[in-house]
Amino acid sequence: MSKRTILCIPGDGIGPEIMQASMPILEYALKIAGMDYQLTHGVLGGAGVDKYGEPYPVATQTLARAADSILFGAIGGPKWDQLERKLRPESGLLAIRQDLQLFANLRPARLFRQLADASSLKPELVADLDLLIVRELTGGIYFGQPRGLVEENGRRRGFNTMVYDEDEIRAVARVAFAAAQRRQGRVCSVDKANVLEVSQLWREVVTQEAENWPDIVLSHMYVDNAAMQLVRTPKQFDVIVTSNLFGDILSDIAAMLTGSIGMLPSASLNAQHVGLYEPVHGSAPDIAGQDKANPLAMILSVSMMLRHSFGLVQVAERIEQAVGRVLDQGLRTVDLVSVSSDTTELSGDQLAPIGTKAMGHAILQAMQES
Ligand code: IPM
Ligand code: MG
Repeated sequence: MSKRTILCIPGDGIGPEIMQASMPILEYALKIAGMDYQLTHGVLGGAGVDKYGEPYPVATQTLARAADSILFGAIGGPKWDQLERKLRPESGLLAIRQDLQLFANLRPARLFRQLADASSLKPELVADLDLLIVRELTGGIYFGQPRGLVEENGRRRGFNTMVYDEDEIRAVARVAFAAAQRRQGRVCSVDKANVLEVSQLWREVVTQEAENWPDIVLSHMYVDNAAMQLVRTPKQFDVIVTSNLFGDILSDIAAMLTGSIGMLPSASLNAQHVGLYEPVHGSAPDIAGQDKANPLAMILSVSMMLRHSFGLVQVAERIEQAVGRVLDQGLRTVDLVSVSSDTTELSGDQLAPIGTKAMGHAILQAMQES
């Protein structure tokens, strides 16, 4: 295998500290896998604005286009909230997704059984939960034209367009069907076909594409019902495939089922298997720099990178197992410590929470001991 390039983008808020906690794990994993690699480093979001005056600087774009894979922390924060839209940190993330055509966003929501108590749902509803949301990431209302904010007759008007063409729908449906083949073989396509023409097309194209996947069981659900079903009986789902906006919303719901949004990794892939791997959670500016952030979503994103970009399934599993063992030991960052409803006191059998760095060390150690 030729030398692979991995671009590391810490981003803003807690991004740098979770990146720092995860790097030794990435490097150790690549060492035991015997992969020849080099690391490059870039800035995105608020950090890009601060350094180069734009959220997706040209320097980062050059590095991103040359990379085989990208590990990314988080972006955003109050410091940049007042900037005009194209300078906001979020615009940097949307720009890199679009630039690299990362159209398929995989967001697995898997509950580590050790964390069943940390979920906001009853443990029996979420025990062994393992679902995958495949979110279309470079189209839909996020990018649709026309869009804008205008003033007409002294009254302001804002508008966006939810638009898909059939190729975009087919491409993401294929990713979902292929993923389901490696899982339970069930895909639920989520839309709003009872109201929106764009969803009617979505449903038709997904249904048509399913004919090429005879081993997949396809169902359809309206997005409002899907939101309800996710908090009612989440284990009914295997793979959910949906559009950009619906996937954004449903994946936050799914995240909460797993105990903490601090546990969810994601992969954004293009047709060449170049991926951008990032935790689903945001930059949490309120706890940034305090060694409190949970690095596990980032560490699990490393595991997704090894699996999806480099085909290193065994070492990816080794990371996931290490996470399981560390949770077995009772180690928790503060977001994972369950608190009883009427008090913030820790219940008797819980250890005091550990910090970001300590969690990173514990995972590395668990890997080294396995
Ligand atoms: C996500 C985030 C982003 C999105 C924001 C930060 C632009 O919420 O990745 O889910 O809306 O896609
Ligand atoms: Mg989101």
